Amino acid sequence: MKNVVVLTGAGISAESGIKTFRDADGLWEGYDVMEVASPVGWENNMELVLDFYNQRRRQLLEVEPNEAHYALVKLQERYNVKIITQNIDDLHERAGSDNVTHLHGELLKARSTFDESLVMDWKKDINIGDFCEYNHQLRPHVVWFGEAVPMFQKAAEIAENAGIVIVVGTSMQVYPAASLIDFTPKESPIYFIDPNPNISAGGNLEIISKKAVEGVPELVTRLLNEA
Ligand code: APR
Repeated sequence: MKNVVVLTGAGISAESGIKTFRDADGLWEGYDVMEVASPVGWENNMELVLDFYNQRRRQLLEVEPNEAHYALVKLQERYNVKIITQNIDDLHERAGSDNVTHLHGELLKARSTFDESLVMDWKKDINIGDFCEYNHQLRPHVVWFGEAVPMFQKAAEIAENAGIVIVVGTSMQVYPAASLIDFTPKESPIYFIDPNPNISAGGNLEIISKKAVEGVPELVTRLLNEA
């Protein structure tokens, strides 16, 4: 089976009811991203950061995967599908995708501020005073601005073996995630699905200017027919 590598971002979860990051006002759900998603923000106001992610986590538990997530599961019938997502939600997994790499962490996990390899499943709020086994505060298991991206090496290796590349719902503005496209083989076709694409077609790049819920199922039907 051919390898399909899918890079997903906030746009694929938009139709499920999770807002994208880069709205016109530059705020994330009304917050300055550096206040709620950076090590400095954490040092300045842990309570605000925890509260922000607690709200995101509660929201996530109320929403469902959409047709785009489900279409990628169907693609597994005839392709070896590997998803690399910048999203911290679990909607790909809940839809049924078997191979998902989270570049920017996972909202339903917490980790120790003492030892970053101490990661645990966590579906409720994280509060001040929630400690790891070594009595250090827990924090969301997410990659903040300015932090290293530990999963990048694994993601780059996946990208190197892509026979087909699909990019869905990401503005490709955040590095190193955006550079993953440079690791894909030059001859592999790239399908870019976004209602407001910020790049133009050319070479082996095809732009599909549609919302994920329309564009992904259409492309999946096409690829299943070609397989
Ligand atoms: N379907 C597909 N794409 C959509 C939809 C939709 N229904 N709605 C919006 N989009 C597109 C937008 O046009 C935009 O190009 O999704 C993209 C979302 O871009 P961003 O908000 O920048 O999200 P993303 O690229 O995932 O952000 C990357 O930045 O804030 C950090 O760590 C955070 O993982 C995140 C990273």
